[in-house]
This record gives sequence, C-alpha cells and structure tokens, in this order.
Amino acid sequence: MGTPPISVPDGNPAPSMPTTIRQGGTVEPVREILWGQSAGVRKYETPTEVPPDMRELIVKLMVVQADTEFASIQQHRPWLDKAPTLEDRWVEARIVADEARHGLQACRILRDFGEEGQKLIDDLLSRPEGHHKLDAFNMKFDRWSDVGAFTCFVDRVGVYQLRAFQECSYGPLARAMPLMLSEEQLHLNFGYHVLKRIAQGTPGYPGTREEAQKAVYKWYPRALDMFGHSNSATSRRAIEYGLKRWTNEEARTRYIEEITPLVKSMGLELPATDFDRHVT
Ligand SMILES: [Fe+2]
Ligand SMILES: [Fe+2]
Repeated sequence: MGTPPISVPDGNPAPSMPTTIRQGGTVEPVREILWGQSAGVRKYETPTEVPPDMRELIVKLMVVQADTEFASIQQHRPWLDKAPTLEDRWVEARIVADEARHGLQACRILRDFGEEGQKLIDDLLSRPEGHHKLDAFNMKFDRWSDVGAFTCFVDRVGVYQLRAFQECSYGPLARAMPLMLSEEQLHLNFGYHVLKRIAQGTPGYPGTREEAQKAVYKWYPRALDMFGHSNSATSRRAIEYGLKRWTNEEARTRYIEEITPLVKSMGLELPATDFDRHVT
C-alpha cells in the first residue's frame, strides 16, 4: 500500500524545511510554519493567535472532520456483531473505537474555540444517520462488501486529508495527526483485504466477485467527490495559511494513481473518473 510522496505547494517554503518532509517521510515535530504566507514563523498554538479568516477555516475544517468520524460510527455499528469472522468483528470494533477517538480529537480542537466551538460540538453530536455533510457518509453498508469497499476507498481519502494536515501551521492539529494516521492505515489495509477476499471468491467467505465489483462502482465516485471542487477557493486559502499541503485536485490525482493498481490487483475494474460524480 504505497503512501503518496509529500510535496509542498509551489512558492517559497521556509528555508528550515527538513528534507524528510519534502520526501514524504515522518518527521519530528517542527515548530515553524513550513509553507504558505507565514512560512518560517512559529506555528499558531491557540485560537487567539490565529487571524480571524484562518480561525473560521480551522473551525470549518474541524467540523467536517468530526462529522465524518461520527457518521462512520453510525455506518459501521450494525456490523459489529454481523461481520463474518471473529477477526472481522474485532477489527470492526477497533474501527468504531478509532473513529470515536478521531471525532474526540477534532472536537477538542473545536472546544478551544470557546462557546462557538461548543455549540458546533453539540450540533455534531445530535446529527442523525443520513444527515451528514458528505454523501459518502449518508450511505448504508447493505452488504459486507460495502464495509470492505468503504474502508478501502473512503478511509483512504481520509488518510489523504489527514496527510494534507501533517505538520500544518496550527500546532494542536499538527500534533493530532501521527496517531490518527497510523489508525487510519489499519482501516484501509483491512478494507483492501476484505474486498480482495470477496473479489477472489474465497471459500467460506461471504460475497461474490459481482458484489465486490458493484461495491467499487458504489463507493469510488463518492470517494472521489470527497476531495471537493477542483477550483475550490477554500482549499487554496488553506494552503496559503499553511493548513493544507495540496489543492483538492492535486490530492485527488494522487489518490487515483494509488488506487488504480490496487483495484487491478484484486481483479476488479474501476469506472471512469467522471462516472456518477456529484462534485467536480
Ligand atoms: Fe477516522
Ligand atoms: Fe477510518
């Protein structure tokens, strides 16, 4: 499972940027902002330090992040005691616990924004199934193949979103990334192996190649949509503020490059990138 090489946006990165982060490696915490308009100055550590525009952006990004975490718990929940094997049930339980922790981390960041943040948390915690921001999180897991395809395709987008925040300019968010990323890696590896087992018709394992293929057609377009609009002004602002590393389109392109050989290795086919898309 390859991870994408990390690049930083064009422009003038801080001279102190370590080679490891340019090359995509894990790095020790960095104190300075590494890209964007404030490259080279100390990272922001509290809501009171950040400019109002950036404050609004952090809040918006954390609400979307937390919403996806809580929504996926609702989607996985019915499979906690329906997954086909003991190991699958254990991983399902693990995923639910991980997503709850990720939601908690995003909400802790929101909580630092005082009353405004707390109101948003209250709203997030009261959202019922089917009422979330992104379409991928309003769809049910009708079959076990949906669980495999969701974790393989949708959690993988989540990893790209988190990697875009790695070493970002807001310290509390940057520090939340390493653990979240390692947990997400388990989810998408699990998804890949579940879907592959179904696709290859493993004896005694539920599902058929046709079901696996159907699940690819169901989840891949929604996963591509999750990256957002190609010409999003918000994603450009997030890069200028040093919060995100890639534009939506850059991240989507890398994702497609990564997922294409993986799907082929399962003996399945991907639809065209414009198939059943809602967000372009
Ligand atoms: Fe998560
Ligand atoms: Fe996940």
